[in-house]
Amino acid sequence: MELGLSNKVAVVLAASKGLGRATAEALAAEGARVVIGARDEKELVKTALEISEKTGSEVMAVPVDVTDAQQCENFIAQAMERFGQIDILVNNAGGPPFGPFESFDEAQWQAAFELNLLSTVRFSRLVLPHLKKTGSGRIINIASLSVKSVLENSVLSTSIRMGVIGMAKMLADEVGPNQITVNNVCPGLILTDRVRNTSIKQQLAAGMSEEEALKERAKNIPLRRIGKPEELAALITFLASEKASYITGTTIQVDGGAVRSIF
Ligand SMILES: NC(=O)c1ccc[n+]([C@@H]2O[C@H](COP(=O)([O-])OP(=O)(O)OC[C@H]3O[C@@H](n4cnc5c(N)ncnc54)[C@H](OP(=O)(O)O)[C@@H]3O)[C@@H](O)[C@H]2O)c1
Repeated sequence: MELGLSNKVAVVLAASKGLGRATAEALAAEGARVVIGARDEKELVKTALEISEKTGSEVMAVPVDVTDAQQCENFIAQAMERFGQIDILVNNAGGPPFGPFESFDEAQWQAAFELNLLSTVRFSRLVLPHLKKTGSGRIINIASLSVKSVLENSVLSTSIRMGVIGMAKMLADEVGPNQITVNNVCPGLILTDRVRNTSIKQQLAAGMSEEEALKERAKNIPLRRIGKPEELAALITFLASEKASYITGTTIQVDGGAVRSIF
């Protein structure tokens, strides 16, 4: 299927590893030029080089902390200076800590708000004027399955991401006349460093091998396995493409069937 991405410029945040990296790679493989951001410059530059060598597409690395307004502004200015256009924005960031409601203080709530909601608002605001010029702009937010089904200990992530879902719905409504689509994707359990450091941390600490721990965690997932980053990236790439021109305001999970609600 020709996705029509070869003349596009995509910004992918939090993309030195994990879901962001897989997304940047999938878009680059379709011929898009990609600007990736994350905080650790060394890791980011290495990722950009690797993706560029593998796909043959131009990948620009711009270090950015998505919680810092000035850095975000500089990031988009540098992307525009290099490419002169932005067609696709993939909002992503690290995830907030897991824990029960009573374990979090006000500073942690504020930090989660800034990391996962305000960064999405900020980048969408910065990029919208450029998307409006394209006549087919795309905003895709990486959220979490927790907005569709209760995920234990995810109160920070769930509460804040519900704001992202609400914002995206409003934005889709407002920018529809500009042919800009706004959608959310919800990863279930997908193997990245975050999962290694959170979801299976206890099992690994108890001496289980990674393979055993993942099998254990996948017991209640209908497909009986944990996902791969490229499986989320495939949906994002489709939503970013010309083929998805009539899909907007949606929230789609990639979770092996883990969300049990029928609607
Ligand atoms: N993997 C899953 O199963 C899963 C499920 C549901 C939701 N999610 C959500 O999806 C998102 C990505 O998760 P992941 O699994 O890909 O995590 P990951 O493998 O830990 O990667 C996180 C990426 O985010 C970057 N990052 C973190 N904080 C940042 C900041 N303040 N500014 C800019 N970049 C930042 C990291 O680079 P630096 O540290 O160098 O900045 C890294 O590139 C998270 O919000 C996570 O909660 C993941």
